[in-house]
Amino acid sequence: MTTIDSLQSAYGFTKMPFGRDIAPQALNQHRAHQEAVARIAWCVSEQAIGVVTGECGSGKTVAARAALSALDASRHTVIYLGTPGVGLRGTYATIVASLGGVPRFHCSSLIPQAADLLAQEAEERGKKVTLCLDEVQLLDADTLEGLRCLQNAGMDAQHPFGCILLAQPMFRRRLRLGAYTALDQRVGLRYVVGGLEATECGPYVAHHLKLCGRADTLFSDDAIALIYQVARGLPRAVNNLATQALVAAYASKKAIVDESAARAAVAEVTAE
Ligand SMILES: Nc1ncnc2c1ncn2[C@@H]1O[C@H](COP(=O)(O)OP(=O)(O)OP(=O)(O)O)[C@@H](O)[C@H]1O
Ligand SMILES: [Mg+2]
Repeated sequence: MTTIDSLQSAYGFTKMPFGRDIAPQALNQHRAHQEAVARIAWCVSEQAIGVVTGECGSGKTVAARAALSALDASRHTVIYLGTPGVGLRGTYATIVASLGGVPRFHCSSLIPQAADLLAQEAEERGKKVTLCLDEVQLLDADTLEGLRCLQNAGMDAQHPFGCILLAQPMFRRRLRLGAYTALDQRVGLRYVVGGLEATECGPYVAHHLKLCGRADTLFSDDAIALIYQVARGLPRAVNNLATQALVAAYASKKAIVDESAARAAVAEVTAE
């Protein structure tokens, strides 16, 4: 038996808690999450461009996944691009391919091809199209400019598709730079995903534990308070600290994850 297996059985988990493989309908419903989901849904229905920013691990991707997976596939076409490291060609070739096209070779004809296919999807098939680009802070200037060209294809009469841009906070500042004014002016919604509030951290941890078979209290209040403070309420950091605290509690054979287990976790996570 591995340490993980024995930890799991010691605490009666059906699987290790704080994992990433949570079904969209089983996500924790804290305020920032619900607000992000509602705003992304608004962008989809209004076919607007939305810029959703937030610190690393604040829950942007999870919120987008929740909002987009709730859409009726017979009326919506969703294109999600999670790896923008692929550059201009990769980005637009992926859009073309996900709409069933064979990407043209030259970038100059690839963007109009993507625009045509997006328009067809909306006009001929009657679908509402939503493009969701993740990690947009990594996009280069040409790829971002291409987005504006896509939006322009319909002569500005009507946005042919909704567009959700997920990015780290610095992207907001970059958008405001002169070079992106045209795109910036088309942004219909901006939202910053914050972390959990102090009172939401205990229920958040409890939610993750419950998904793994433990419905009773496992973390003490002071352990939660410390984890919350060090993680600044950011869900991914809470997950990491809570996991470490669990391992520390297991190592010292404790039935409850108390403050000293949480402190050991903080020491490990923040160690140089
Ligand atoms: N509503 C939620 N319910 C349960 N877990 C959540 C929720 N929101 C976030 N998490 C947890 O936090 C982790 C980080 O969330 P996510 O990947 O969405 O962050 P992000 O803002 O996209 O970060 P990055 O900028 O690094 O891409 C998730 O893997 C998940 O474990
Ligand atoms: Mg993400």
